[in-house]
Amino acid sequence: MTNLQEKLAADPQRPRYHFLPSANWMNDPNGTIFWKGKYHVFYQHNPYVAWWGMMHWGHAVSEDLVHWTHLPIALAPTPYGPDKDGCWSGCAVDNGGVPIIVYTGVSHDDGRRVEVQCIATSDDDMITWKKYPENPVIGSPPKGLEVTGFRDPCVWKEGDNWYMLIGSGIKDIGGAALLYKSKDLIRWEYLHPLCIGDKEKTGTMWECPDFFPLGDKHVLLVSTLGTTLYFVGTYADHRFHPDIRGNTDIGGHFYAARSLIDGDGRRILFGWVWEGCSEAAQRASGWAGVLSLPRVLSLCDDGTLGMEPVPELKVLRGRHYHYTEIRVTPASSALLTGVQGDCLEIDAEFDPCDAEEFCLKVRCAPDATEQTLIFYSDKSKRLNVDRERSSLSPEVSRGIQGGPLELVAGETLNLRIFLDRSVVDVFANGRTCITDRIYPSRADSLGIGLFACGSNAKLKSMDIWEMKSISTPGSSEPHR
Ligand code: FRU
Repeated sequence: MTNLQEKLAADPQRPRYHFLPSANWMNDPNGTIFWKGKYHVFYQHNPYVAWWGMMHWGHAVSEDLVHWTHLPIALAPTPYGPDKDGCWSGCAVDNGGVPIIVYTGVSHDDGRRVEVQCIATSDDDMITWKKYPENPVIGSPPKGLEVTGFRDPCVWKEGDNWYMLIGSGIKDIGGAALLYKSKDLIRWEYLHPLCIGDKEKTGTMWECPDFFPLGDKHVLLVSTLGTTLYFVGTYADHRFHPDIRGNTDIGGHFYAARSLIDGDGRRILFGWVWEGCSEAAQRASGWAGVLSLPRVLSLCDDGTLGMEPVPELKVLRGRHYHYTEIRVTPASSALLTGVQGDCLEIDAEFDPCDAEEFCLKVRCAPDATEQTLIFYSDKSKRLNVDRERSSLSPEVSRGIQGGPLELVAGETLNLRIFLDRSVVDVFANGRTCITDRIYPSRADSLGIGLFACGSNAKLKSMDIWEMKSISTPGSSEPHR
């Protein structure tokens, strides 16, 4: 083992069952595709340092969405090429048995950033990639449009034609997804914006658009204002009419989400889970950025987006603890005995009863100097993660992160919580997610507790499993 690998293996903040590169930086998932029975995820990767820069495409493959194998870096900037300053986000498609990556190449001209669309193909099942010698295939934004950006292609096929969405924004109006059409993935014709947002409500620039059918609707995902928004609506005449807007995650650490459809027809979503500690801490740790747990998407009865962790994650469940019918009161301050950990899955069902607020405390130090609260406020109808006291370290972000979750009369709160060291994922009632980061500094911040405010709540049942770690063979480092 190299010194860096030893250091990473000993780092108590580094997740054990979320995928991440073997070292250094990752951001957006790219080119997510189910190919010959396996799940492939590419991702924005800086293989040299644990900070953003000089983007490459890292690559990993999985048979079960849980265990991953690193594959060689798929794309690196080409000196003097249209991607000389970075291979930015994009997608992968199956062109009649030939995999094609469509990505944004970045270069600088007189200090101005130039974003163009490029393609690459593979003839060895996606291990090595050849860039198209005539790149770029789209060299500039549509004439006459003053855009705020022009990147992150999303491509799909309809009949004999290919369509591409490019993440953009129209100056002074709002974020936009621009629609192109092609017969051969090389010559592209601009059609019109598929959809335009409102700069006040949905930001000035839409990054990483993703567009797909779900049930009898279509879904457009765009990343903007630090979050991935979704729109559910109707797609007709190559225009998209959104009816419903929502947030794929109300935690503030989940971004640039991108999906794939698998052999069973499931629509599976991956996002980038970014860090919540200082640049200096990230650089010093030797790693930064994590892939989210994969989520299965569905449409809820009310038309909003349903999200559940993939059932495959159950293979990681180890030692099991079970609780039923616990009255949670404002006086319940003791931690649960016999169970603790920083790599756990917790599946809990609460009846709010008359409590104004109730919560599950995780990563608690025995003297409560560190603790993280996952709490529901019946008063404000919000689900939150409170990180005010998650860590004694001065280098980490704090605060309460969360958002609205309305429980209908008689509905219980069902939480699936995944603790994986510095990552906390909360799935609530199959329709609301919070992805968050915490960095407890004490080795004994491992306790779990329950608490209510105002009046009592009831924990109807709770299952806790210790989670196994995944080992990820191979390396995402460049060959030196
Ligand atoms: C989103 C993003 C994309 C871009 C990439 C660069 O996080 O800014 O728009 O392609 O990251 O790494």
